Amino acid sequence: MSYDDAIAALSKDALRFVKNNTVLGLGSGRAATAFVKELGVHIKKKKMSVRAVPTSLQIKMVAERAGIHLISSDQIEKIDTVFDGADQIDGQRNLIKGGGGALLRENILISCANQVIIMADATKFVRHFNKTVPVEIHPFARNTAKKLIEGIGGKPEIRTIERGYPFITENGNIIYDCDFGTIKAPAQLASKIKLVAGVVEVGIFTRKPDIIYKANENGKFEILR
Ligand code: A5P
Repeated sequence: MSYDDAIAALSKDALRFVKNNTVLGLGSGRAATAFVKELGVHIKKKKMSVRAVPTSLQIKMVAERAGIHLISSDQIEKIDTVFDGADQIDGQRNLIKGGGGALLRENILISCANQVIIMADATKFVRHFNKTVPVEIHPFARNTAKKLIEGIGGKPEIRTIERGYPFITENGNIIYDCDFGTIKAPAQLASKIKLVAGVVEVGIFTRKPDIIYKANENGKFEILR
C-alpha cells in the first residue's frame, strides 16, 4: 500500500461532494488528476450534468479524455466546488500551491468557490510552512521584483525546465521559487509579496479549504474538516 493507493481511494470518496447541475473547478497536478479520472466515470454512470473549469492545460487534457464538459472561466462568476491538490498545508490550513505553475488560475477559482476540497498526502502537512513559495512574475519585472523580494527576506530562484530554459506559465510569466525559511505568518508574508510591482500571484493561499483529504502511506485516508 502507498500514498498513491490512498489518493486513488480518496478520489472515489470525494465524488460524494459532486452534485448535479453544478460548476466545478479542477485544480492541477497528481491528486487533481486522480480525482478527475474518477469524476469522468462517475458522471457518466450517474448521468449527471456537471460543467467544469480547468486550471491548466495539464488538467484540461485529462478532463477531455475523461469526457467532462469543460467551460471557460469567462462563462462563470462563481464556482460551486473546487477539487485541488496542494504542495504544503500548515497548521492553520493555509496552503502553498504552484508546484506545477498553475497558481494564478487555481487561486482565481478557489477565491470564488462555495466549497474547496483539497487532497494531499501526509508528507505535505506541516505546522509552519518550510518550503519555497512560488511567485508568478511578469517578465518585465524579472530583475526589479527579484531585488524587492530579497528586500523582504526571500531568496528567489528562477524556475527552469531542462537545459536551463525558464519555465513560462500559461499566462506568459516566469516563476521565482522563493525561500523564506520557516513561515510563521503566511498571510502577512503573502500581502507583502503581493505589493511588489510585477508580482502576478503568490503561492500562499489563505482561503481555508472546507474539506481536506489526507492520504496516508498505508493506503488509507482521513478527512479533516
Ligand atoms: C499546481 O500548480 C499545484 O498547485 C498543484 O496543485 C500542487 O503542486 C499539488 O500537486 P500534486 O497533487 O501533484 O502534488
